[in-house]
Amino acid sequence: MPKQKQTLLDIKNLYTGFFINNELHHAITNINLTIDSGEIICIVGESGCGKSVLALSVMQLLPSVNAKVSQGEIIFQGDNLLDKSIKEMNQIRGKSISMIFQEPMTALNPVFTIGFHLIEVLKNHTDLSKKDAMSKAIDLLQQVGIPRPDKIMHEYPHQLSGGMRQRIMIAIAIALHPKLLIADEPTTALDVTVQAQILELLKDIHSKENTSIMLVTHDLGVVAEMADRVVVMYAGEIVESSTIHYLFAHPRHPYTLALLGSIPDLNHDKEKLQTVKGVVPSIQNMPQQGCRFASRCTKAFKDCTNITPELSEVSDNHFARCLLYDACYPEDSSTKKGENK
Ligand SMILES: Nc1ncnc2c1ncn2[C@@H]1O[C@H](COP(=O)(O)OP(=O)(O)OP(=O)(O)O)[C@@H](O)[C@H]1O
Ligand SMILES: [Mg+2]
Repeated sequence: MPKQKQTLLDIKNLYTGFFINNELHHAITNINLTIDSGEIICIVGESGCGKSVLALSVMQLLPSVNAKVSQGEIIFQGDNLLDKSIKEMNQIRGKSISMIFQEPMTALNPVFTIGFHLIEVLKNHTDLSKKDAMSKAIDLLQQVGIPRPDKIMHEYPHQLSGGMRQRIMIAIAIALHPKLLIADEPTTALDVTVQAQILELLKDIHSKENTSIMLVTHDLGVVAEMADRVVVMYAGEIVESSTIHYLFAHPRHPYTLALLGSIPDLNHDKEKLQTVKGVVPSIQNMPQQGCRFASRCTKAFKDCTNITPELSEVSDNHFARCLLYDACYPEDSSTKKGENK
């Protein structure tokens, strides 16, 4: 019998913005997204699309000076995280949800040893004795593939390579067996071989612990490697979401199509590599009506700047926010509702 899906995270109608000159400008709008237990979701989109703002909204790690979640709910295991106190959120972070960042040095304190970082997390959230926390920390380092863990325990973050530091961050992130791991561009700063090792490590953790992963990336190669489901963001909105297979085989949004067209392919002529012309609008210059991608879209027609497209269900569990989602790709008419299983 197929395993029953269980929703772990349910983001409903979420809007997060920043105050600029006393005016709130939304960086993400109307985000609806669920993550099931044990599922890997990749969030993709160009720089400035709102991927990190979404991740930080879930963690409630937005800059307190000017950020505001103005609408919506973030339901995690049945509770709205937006109703939690700072103290409750501190308990949830690390224990139930943890996050790894692109640059581990932003999260590691240069004046403390690796051992101190790990033991601190274990001490704050468990009643392990110092000795047991110490041996658990060494176990964790072993688990993430750190050689000579007892020596590394006494070293400082700057003494390690970028790949090793990212492994340390992962060890800290998984120390308390979180249900959800949010990884924001965890491999972007690393060279390709180390990238592949870190992705393997995440996959390994996911399969051993059934951890759900929300992986933020702008690299579709990483998506192909990791995702069960993909969410494509553009200018703060979800423009397409689908299972990995359908997104790559039958993309419905011209933006997704353009992103896929920009992946280098060794088997094809480099000349054919496409780039999406133009840039993502800033949060102060979002189009007030119509499709936010219209000005860059090669398929745009006059309605695109007047009519604001809804996120429509193209086939089962496949959604696209484009007026032309059906007309654009007649060759894919086989992909109708009921076939995306
Ligand atoms: N602290 C802030 N104050 C004002 N605007 C911000 C702030 N943080 C982010 N933004 C704006 O919100 C929008 C979304 O930013 P975000 O960092 O989520 O993009 P991203 O998709 O993660 O991009 P990247 O791939 O470069 O990491 C951008 O227009 C950005 O300028
Ligand atoms: Mg980001």
